[in-house]
Amino acid sequence: MRLLAALACTAILAAPAFAQQLAATPPMGWNSWNHFADKVTDADVRSAADQLVSTGMREAGYIYVNLDDTWQGTRDAQGVLHPNSRFPDMKALADYIHSKGLKFGIYSGPGEKTCGGYTGSLGHEAQDAKMYAEWGVDFLKYDMCSFWDNRAEATKAHPNDPNAARDVMIAAYKKMGDALKATGRPILYSLCQYGVDQPWKWGPSVGAQMWRTTDDIDDSYGRMVMIGFSQAGLSKYAGPGHWNDPDMLEVGNGKMTTDEYKTHMSLWVILAAPLLAGNDLSKMTDTDKSILMNKDAIAIDQDPLGRQGDRLYQSADIDVWTKPLSNGRVAVGLFNRAWGPRDISVDLSDIGFKSGGNVRDVWQQQDLGHKAGVFTSTVPRHGVTLLIVSR
Ligand code: GLA
Repeated sequence: MRLLAALACTAILAAPAFAQQLAATPPMGWNSWNHFADKVTDADVRSAADQLVSTGMREAGYIYVNLDDTWQGTRDAQGVLHPNSRFPDMKALADYIHSKGLKFGIYSGPGEKTCGGYTGSLGHEAQDAKMYAEWGVDFLKYDMCSFWDNRAEATKAHPNDPNAARDVMIAAYKKMGDALKATGRPILYSLCQYGVDQPWKWGPSVGAQMWRTTDDIDDSYGRMVMIGFSQAGLSKYAGPGHWNDPDMLEVGNGKMTTDEYKTHMSLWVILAAPLLAGNDLSKMTDTDKSILMNKDAIAIDQDPLGRQGDRLYQSADIDVWTKPLSNGRVAVGLFNRAWGPRDISVDLSDIGFKSGGNVRDVWQQQDLGHKAGVFTSTVPRHGVTLLIVSR
């Protein structure tokens, strides 16, 4: 029994070699949805690719250019799905993105329709996967959307089976996972079904390297922290080749304060979340750049150990999270959710530094020297102090 439990645990923690190569660390890039939504055009995606290069985002690690929903047109008599008039030539778009040293991501779903009401992949999984491979697609986000109806039908058809809806959904996700594998092209597979039925437990078995754990984010502090802090307890399901995805970044979209965006970035890197920028890259301010391209923050996310962080402590106003890093280092986030500044402390001996450690402040970009015992920081309203403690 114990052996079986140990084997099950290994299956969760160690993703297949194929998955590890595709996503040894959390995927990074840009996605069209949070800013452009259903207005996105071929020109917007090309411009995002240009901007990833000119802003330094590509060098910082953001390499996927992901076109989200609303690129689809209609299927022809042979079932081939054609893009709509905003995307005249997908192969040419993929070639353009690749010519910039970037990778191309696309979007579909297991239902008849996508969330935007465009054509989904139901019944055409292998055909669509083959076409993506021919275009040169490197990433697929597969979004449940109208497959909710198929789940409901399964429950109706099998009223005595409490798992009917879950099983039909997992089978649909596996169908596309298998179809992608059959193309022979490495295509990163990203599940988007809002965390329904705990995808962190079955995501790897359908061939996925990442899965959304929650419903959609929006550009507000309330929604962002609700999602971010709800990830407590999920760290054991993430690791090289398989990542929990609390949704894309809103940094730079304008409706949060600088401290709130720093909280967003800090929480996501402690969560070892995929970092998919969702802003208009042609309008980035210096502050947006300094948040999205903070080298220490990115290094926390991309640490080769591949461990997701988790909550150490929570009270009414504050949250303290830690993430184990390589070489015995630890990242610490002191988060203030209150309406005014708060002094937040962490006892370094509680996080493995009995005789203290060297403390670096990520947002100040400053080494604070050797500290021991209780470390306290005054954190602004809705802000964060993000630290790396090393030996
Ligand atoms: C869902 C997803 C979003 C986005 C939209 C597109 O809401 O969760 O991330 O892909 O669909 O329609």
